[in-house]
Amino acid sequence: MSDNDERIVSPHDVDDEPNLEQSLRPQYLDQYIGQNDIKDELSVYITAAKQREESLDHVLLYGPPGLGKTTLAMVIANELGVNVKTTSGPAIEKSGDLLSLLNELNPGDVLFIDEIHRLPKAVEEILYSAMEDFFVDIVIGQGPTAHPVHFPLPPFTLIGATTQAGMLSAPLRDRFGIVEHMNYYEVSDLQSIVKRTADIFNISIQDQGAIEVALRSRGTPRIANRLLKRIRDFAQVANKDEIDLEIVRYALTLLKVDSIGLDATDIKLLKTMIEFYDGGPVGLNTLAANIGEDADTIAEMYEPYLLQIGFIKRTARGRMVTSTGYQHLGYPNNFKN
Ligand SMILES: Nc1ncnc2c1ncn2[C@@H]1O[C@H](COP(=O)(O)OP(=O)(O)O)[C@@H](O)[C@H]1O
Ligand SMILES: [Mg+2]
Repeated sequence: MSDNDERIVSPHDVDDEPNLEQSLRPQYLDQYIGQNDIKDELSVYITAAKQREESLDHVLLYGPPGLGKTTLAMVIANELGVNVKTTSGPAIEKSGDLLSLLNELNPGDVLFIDEIHRLPKAVEEILYSAMEDFFVDIVIGQGPTAHPVHFPLPPFTLIGATTQAGMLSAPLRDRFGIVEHMNYYEVSDLQSIVKRTADIFNISIQDQGAIEVALRSRGTPRIANRLLKRIRDFAQVANKDEIDLEIVRYALTLLKVDSIGLDATDIKLLKTMIEFYDGGPVGLNTLAANIGEDADTIAEMYEPYLLQIGFIKRTARGRMVTSTGYQHLGYPNNFKN
């Protein structure tokens, strides 16, 4: 676990309590909160595939971590009433690994590949014919005994998830008939997610408290659930049988999560850009060196949300803090922006 996964507002899965995590996952589309356009579309495709008794077209889900991609993949399999095999790009090292996964599928089953942008190239190439025509051709053995083998496969549905659609090769991307871009959640949806999670935890939460958690969850269900877990501890120790606004504010102040969900590192990043670089533009690597993080971590874990809420913008010459960012931190406006 890296330092960053210990952030209370990290959107990454830290797998602290896998069983609890599992119990929070919605099982069917009608329990899956928000993302209404995606749900409406998927519901039609799933119904149509079932009516035709065919496998569902391959599905690519992309978007920032913690928004419910893995959950949605499982929901799709449940709605189809099929089994699902789960793996991830980096876990499939050799073509043989992929072949044994494909070999276990029954007609109509789902193969879920998380972090599909990290599949080795040789494995990816085998997927092309598997996805398109349900067969693979591979060479078995080495040297003089090497011979090509043709494996027919049952019709199946590949569901791929990625945080970085841009890193997917065009031939792979083009083989997904259904491509869904997951967006950050609305506050009202997060509020419902917090309520639902509180129900599962068997604790009641007032509306104002749920809204406050929602506002500080960076549009991300995983963060909302994680914050609620910690707040539940504070409520319990304070002998409250209901979570109210006061205990939410108290807990989140101690956890150093600000009114819109920024943590100490987000603030340090913005302040460094403002105080040392006059708001930018500043290059990612320079910034990384300044705050003692690596560039990839900033690009993957900090930037997306700051871009989403319009606190920073990317320009050809580097990152800049916007006037909204200046205002949130209480600086006078920088008229460069
Ligand atoms: N639409 C949703 N409704 C309710 N809970 C959700 C929803 N999306 C995600 N969650 C919760 O957030 C957690 C993280 O979701 P996950 O599917 O693991 O995200 P991702 O795969 O995109 O990183 C899940 O365990 C689930 O409890
Ligand atoms: Mg996931």
